[in-house]
Amino acid sequence: MSIDIGLIRQSWALVEPVADKVTMHFYAKLFADYPHVREMFPPAMDVQRDRLLQALTRVVLNLEDGAGVVDYLGQLARDHRKYGVMPEHYPAVGRCLVIAMRANAGNAWRSVYDSAWIDAYQFIADVMIKAAEQESAYAPPAWEGVVVGHEMRTPEIAVVTVEPTQPYAYKAGQYATLQTPHWPKVWRPYSIANAPRRDNRLTFHVRIVPGGWVSTALAHRTRPGDTLLLGPPRGSLLLERASTPHLIFIAGGTGLAPLKALIEESMWLPARPSIDLFHGIRHSGDAYDLADLRDLRSHHRRLRVVQAVSDDPEEWRRENAVDALLNHRVMLDGDVFVCGSPDMVQVTTARLLHIGVPPHLIHTEFTPGAPTLVYS
Ligand SMILES: Cc1cc2nc3c(=O)[nH]c(=O)nc-3n(C[C@H](O)[C@H](O)[C@H](O)COP(=O)(O)OP(=O)(O)OC[C@H]3O[C@@H](n4cnc5c(N)ncnc54)[C@H](O)[C@@H]3O)c2cc1C
Ligand code: HEM
Repeated sequence: MSIDIGLIRQSWALVEPVADKVTMHFYAKLFADYPHVREMFPPAMDVQRDRLLQALTRVVLNLEDGAGVVDYLGQLARDHRKYGVMPEHYPAVGRCLVIAMRANAGNAWRSVYDSAWIDAYQFIADVMIKAAEQESAYAPPAWEGVVVGHEMRTPEIAVVTVEPTQPYAYKAGQYATLQTPHWPKVWRPYSIANAPRRDNRLTFHVRIVPGGWVSTALAHRTRPGDTLLLGPPRGSLLLERASTPHLIFIAGGTGLAPLKALIEESMWLPARPSIDLFHGIRHSGDAYDLADLRDLRSHHRRLRVVQAVSDDPEEWRRENAVDALLNHRVMLDGDVFVCGSPDMVQVTTARLLHIGVPPHLIHTEFTPGAPTLVYS
């Protein structure tokens, strides 16, 4: 099937300014015409409701990145099994989406745009349906995980360890979506803070977002013995992306989690890379993982750990992680992995490029739904 990206781009220019309206129209139409799909979605859909449209358009606009997009769609499709999505639901979503775009884009909309989107959607739907079908042969749609550890490391950060009741295969650096019994049907992604272990246990670093549903429930209302639900592993912040023996890890807050998993994994490699980890925190009291980092350091002689404190008036030296990197005169000859809030990742990446790190050596999570990437 040939997809006319030119037409998609032209039509997206009409849709983008009214994306909110399109999203509202899309869900209203979907739930009116196919009422049975409503129960798959959370009761309140105000938070990040635009993710589907955002993801879809980003995927379509990035279709040239063949392998990356297919990999992302495969993960998305496997993840959609937990909602109960079946192949027959895809045409309904595609139909409502095109109707919503056409209805809101104004008079400049042309009928050829309909066909361009139908073709693109069909391609995406085919990839997703196939990936979900393959996965259903050997993996459940979601995993039950018993909480076996729960520790408030600071008033805002909990470290939660979960033991899935079935094997949970993932790669260091990936994340899982979690659902707590307090908020049925509400899923949020959290990075897995450890490399795969023999005991199948997964540790998560959860920062409380004030008023946040899932983070607050995980920190304040979850105890050992409780059962959570886990979606399948997702994400592409993997060690295999590195092409040099020197790794520079830049973490903001709980963005430390996946990088810590990568450090653990690197210890199994026959030739351990040298790693400089810069962990940016705002106040010295936010240093929630020092003991574990020291322990890692004692097992990995080529690991350096630097804590950069940016906003603490008590600190004589206030610096963010990139300042610290420069102050420590780190050789910028290696792969740089960046993980943190969307703002932190954006600012850090721009600064790294500015100081001369080549773009191909900078690695962040590839998420066509990037506007939703919310770490603390
Ligand atoms: C790939 C990925 C990995 C992630 N990994 C982690 C992780 O390891 N640890 C972790 O703590 N979080 C992580 N997050 C963020 C996490 O998924 C949730 O978004 C976060 O915990 C808030 O969820 P909530 O249900 O508590 O808040 P919600 O109920 O979703 O949000 C409540 C309100 O707070 C706003 N809000 C949400 N997040 C923030 C924020 N960070 N700052 C300010 N306002 C906010 C929302 O817009 C909303 O208005 C990750 C996100 C992504 C995309
Ligand atoms: C091309 C097809 C589709 C794309 C690109 C897509 C994309 C997305 C994205 C990006 C999300 C946000 C959560 C995440 O990142 O995992 C999402 C959520 C969801 N999708 Fe899809 N989706 C598609 C098809 C479908 C279909 C056919 C259904 C079935 C009706 C469906 C049902 C859902 C549900 C129930 C959610 C959860 C919503 C929420 O938690 O608010 N999706 N989808």
